[in-house]
Order: sequence, then structure tokens, then C-alpha cells
Amino acid sequence: LSGDQVIVVSNREPYIHEHADSGIVVKRPASGLVTAVEPVMRACSGTWIAHGSGSADRDVVDAGDRVLVPPGQDEYRLRRVWLSAEEEQGYYYGLANEGLWPLCHVAHVRPVFRESDWEAYKRVNQRFADAVVAEARSEDPVVLVQDYHFALLPAMVRERLPQATILTFWHIPWPNPESFGICPWRREILQGLLGSTILGFHTRFHCKNFIETVDRYLEARIEHEHSTIAFREKETLIESYPISIEWPSPEQAAGWASAAECRQRVVGRLGLPTDICLAVGVDRFDYTKGILERLNAVERLLEKRPEWVGRFVFVQVAAPTRSALEEYRSFQERIERVAERINQRFGRPGYQPVHLLATHHEHDAVTELYRAADICMVTSLHDGMNLVCKEFVAARDDLRGVLILSRFAGAARELSEALIVNPYHVEETADALHRAASMPPAEQRERMASLRGTVREFNVYRWAGRMLADAGRWRLRSRIEAR
Ligand code: G6P
Repeated sequence: LSGDQVIVVSNREPYIHEHADSGIVVKRPASGLVTAVEPVMRACSGTWIAHGSGSADRDVVDAGDRVLVPPGQDEYRLRRVWLSAEEEQGYYYGLANEGLWPLCHVAHVRPVFRESDWEAYKRVNQRFADAVVAEARSEDPVVLVQDYHFALLPAMVRERLPQATILTFWHIPWPNPESFGICPWRREILQGLLGSTILGFHTRFHCKNFIETVDRYLEARIEHEHSTIAFREKETLIESYPISIEWPSPEQAAGWASAAECRQRVVGRLGLPTDICLAVGVDRFDYTKGILERLNAVERLLEKRPEWVGRFVFVQVAAPTRSALEEYRSFQERIERVAERINQRFGRPGYQPVHLLATHHEHDAVTELYRAADICMVTSLHDGMNLVCKEFVAARDDLRGVLILSRFAGAARELSEALIVNPYHVEETADALHRAASMPPAEQRERMASLRGTVREFNVYRWAGRMLADAGRWRLRSRIEAR
């Protein structure tokens, strides 16, 4: 596959150029999507089209709003699409994050559907589709469409570039037909997605939900055996591709400080007692991540097993996210209050059980924290895949540390050697914490070695490779059929 043919479309951009006193600084956003797609893009080059959230200056982007990235390595083109405040409000905050995000996560936050948001969503999807057509170097590019921000784009691109191979990946769960059915634009969204050559989800379960949703609301021909949907003379393959991370290279791993050193640094920086069990959580400050449930479990552990008071510390890194939305702001405030309550209840001079670090941490700082920890807690209430758990596993080449993982994260289907919990069940999660904190090193090694084998093998190149191989087969087939 030649790099020139590949176009990625996502809302979030992989690099954000910002002005600082020292000149332009480049930041990486907190996004599972970006974590996964970036290494693939570096490997195959091409163009990544995304919403421009940083500098629009001409010394950063060229006249076509393009900049070569990663900075200094120039491996692929980033093409920025600028949105007006009104477009961003309606398409991103409104329809995508107040509508589709809670709709698909079924996380007990009521989705909001506003006609004006829908209009903005359609307009912005069209603008990105125009950008795809403008960036395409041939009649038949390979377009990798990412996530719920672009449900309408596949059909829009298909109309203009009928030969294109369109691979759409839905990074979040797909709910059952009843749940999805409350969306006023369910038919339009399904039709938009069926412009794809292949539509990918993380799990078979989400594929099944999608197929059933189409069956319920569209007149389409479904071939269950091949997992294809034929709609208006066009066939789409619905397949599961569990997303993953790039496995660290030996050079990268050789550059890491030892786990003991990482521990010393973290303990020193946060002023923690030295002889403790350290549990960590790393998330965006999002109500789907189960941060509240995690804190409840920590509180319950300290309540029912007082031997841990003074000896157990939980550090939560929570990157602020979508803060323009009231739901997100009030969630953050609520978490802060609960953390404070636990600290008041169980803290004492020199000991604070919960440390809430509500700022974005760059990858190296997060790796240091993973390597310093005894336990990593991933307690999503619902999650397409979740990559934090895979990053934790990849960081533990010392074969230590215990992963506690929600059964409602797609990753639980692959990472079965973790301690799997129902985060809604406080008692069960607190017991898992105790079990993890008391786990003998030999058992930790055994579980971690097995988890590492899985993540190493099913890495992000496998995710992209399988999708591209399927696309290659389909491309060939349609060429043969067209003869
Ligand atoms: C999830 C979504 C991504 C998104 C990320 C961060 O992982 O699937 O599409 O980029 O959250 O959210 P944000 O709204 O900041 O891009």
C-alpha cells in the first residue's frame, strides 16, 4: 500500500502546536484513538485530516493548512480543518459528545439531541468529506475514518469517490437496537456508516449490536454468515478488530529508568510514605471511566481492612476533558469532593490515601507512574477497548504489578489474567484491591508474563494489518467483479 493513498480522518489531531514564551511547543493529546492510529500512520505515511486545535499561523502550517509531523521527523502530513466556534459547539460538544457519546456508552447519562447540533454535525462531516476529496491523489484512495464524530462521512465520500476503499472504525461501543433507537437520526447515521467498505468495532458483541440495529431500522440485506450488509447496491463488511498499542521497542525499554527508580521519583514527588502499596489510575476525567466507583472501592477497602490505612495510597491522574460541558465539569467537582472526603476520613499527618492529579501528563510521566505502581485500576463503566490497561502491561518488563480491569471494557475479553471486576459492585472491587495488594510476586509474574504475551502479539500493527488485509481482498474482489 503506497503511503500517498492513505488518508486518515479523525476529529482529534495527533499533534497540537501552541504558542509559548519559548516559541512554538508541540503537545500530544490524551486520546486512545490517537495513541493507536499514530504509529500506524508513521509506518505508512500519507495524510491525516483532523480538526485544528492549535496554531493556524503560517509559520506552522502551509497555505493548504498542512504541516509535516512528527516534528523534526516529518513522516506524514497533518492537514488541519478549522471549525468555527459554532461548528465546534454543535458538532463536537453537542451531537458527538452530548448525543452519541452517552448514547453508545449507556453510562446512565441521558443523551441530548438538538436539531441545531445535528445540522452542525452534518455540515462538519461534509467539510471533512470535502477535505478528503481535496487530499486524495487518486480515484481510489484508502480512507481510514475514525470514530463517532464522522458517522455521515463514509457515504459522503463514497458519493464523490465511488472507487475509494473506506475503512471506518468505531472506537466506542455500539449499543443494542432499543438503546440506539432513541436517536432521532438513527436511519441517517446507519446509512452514513454503510457507505464504508468495512466497518470495524473492537468486539464481536458490538458488531452483533450494529447488525441487529440495521436489521431493525433499515431495509438492508444481511448475510450473517459473512457478516456483511448490502444496502442500496453496496456491500459493507462488519468485522471486529481489537485495537491495541505499539509494543515498546527494546531501545525504548532500555531507556526507561528501573522500576525501583521510578518508584523513588514518584514517592519523592508526591511526598508519599515509602513503605506503601501504590495503586494508580490514568484516565481522562470522563464519567464513563468509573473513577467514582474506583474511589468508592478504595474507601471500602480502608473501611473493611483497616490494616491498609497508612499503607495504601491511590494516585489518580485525570486529564481534564470536554470541560466546556456542564456534565464533565460537575463530574470533576464531584470526584474532587469524594477524594477530599476519603482523605479527611482516613488521612493523618504525613499520610493522604488519595492523590488526585487533575492535569494532563505526557507519555513519559505516565510510563514512570505505571512502572512505580503495585496496582493499576481500570474500572470503566463501559469502554470500547481501553488502552490504559495495555500501556500498563507494556510498561512492566519487570513482570510485577497487578491489573484490575472492568469486565465492561472491551479489553477484558483479551486480558483475562487481570483481576476482572464489576465496577458497580463496590464490595467486589474492594476485595480485588485487597487481593492485588496481597498478591505474592510469583503470581504477579505469572499473570503479567501472560498478559504481556497477549499485548505484544496483538499489537496495533496487527489491528491495522488485519483491517488493511481485509480491505485489500475486497478491493481485488470488486475489481474482478467490475471486469
Ligand atoms: C475517546 C474517543 C476518541 C477521542 C478520545 C479523547 O477515546 O473514542 O475519539 O479522541 O476519547 O476525547 P476528545 O474528545 O478529547 O478527543
